[in-house]
Amino acid sequence: MTAQIIDGNALSRQLRTEVAKRAAALKARGVTPGLAVILVGDNPASQVYVRNKVKACEDNGLHSVLEKYEATMSEAELLARVEALNNDPSIHGILVQLPLPAHIDAQKVIEAISPAKDVDGFHIASAGALMTGMPGFQPCTPYGCMKMLDSIGYDLRGKHAVVIGRSNIVGKPMALMLLSRSATVTICHSATTDLKAQTLQADVIVAAVGKRNVLTADMVKSGAVVIDVGMNRNDEGKLCGDVDFDGVKEVAGYITPVPGGVGPMTITMLLVNTIESAERAAA
Ligand code: GUN
Repeated sequence: MTAQIIDGNALSRQLRTEVAKRAAALKARGVTPGLAVILVGDNPASQVYVRNKVKACEDNGLHSVLEKYEATMSEAELLARVEALNNDPSIHGILVQLPLPAHIDAQKVIEAISPAKDVDGFHIASAGALMTGMPGFQPCTPYGCMKMLDSIGYDLRGKHAVVIGRSNIVGKPMALMLLSRSATVTICHSATTDLKAQTLQADVIVAAVGKRNVLTADMVKSGAVVIDVGMNRNDEGKLCGDVDFDGVKEVAGYITPVPGGVGPMTITMLLVNTIESAERAAA
């Protein structure tokens, strides 16, 4: 069996077209949706991510403000900037790019963002809303994974989903989103004793560890759906995921590639959350 590819670029184009339409509709009502992105320091990966986020806004009719600060910025200064953006009516989403320099308490900064503008979905209020099924912003990466499952019309009810990774940004919210669709969910992590025994039971596998070849063909049930959240480099320096794509695609029913899978979806869902926030503010 050769798996069907779930194309994150194609799905992103489709969803971004809808975002652009919603942005135009808001603009016609005198509201330009606005995202503020704060970057502290000069982490090269963060610089690329931030540039891509700002460009995606520009390309789809959202206004974006990029604030770049030296790594020496104090926590108090950063908190003051967040507070100013909380009170700025032209800004509907605030994103503080992580990681932050070690002298800044990242969680404290995230908690300073108004939950109404928390388009990353990292605030405790957003996490609590997801856990209890209340309205709130969902973290962009797992939200994008759900859209990918929806794009193939996959019904999660009663299915066994295995999430590999337990981060606050991906693994844990991913598990909650799958649970909210009535999947039976297992979360595996670095202390899981027999990962293969778990993944072989799975109808859906989400790999979100940040390590190459965490999932190989011998660990996948025939026909399973495999979502690869990983972003790693192989020995030749090429971008690759957590999944051994060439092997697993011969066993799985569906698979997401890296690059061109979950990556573009993460930014797309950031745009979706920002539009949503602007629509709520304009309502
Ligand atoms: N660093 C890596 N991924 C992300 C993300 O999705 N949001 C933020 N704010 N920082 C990140």
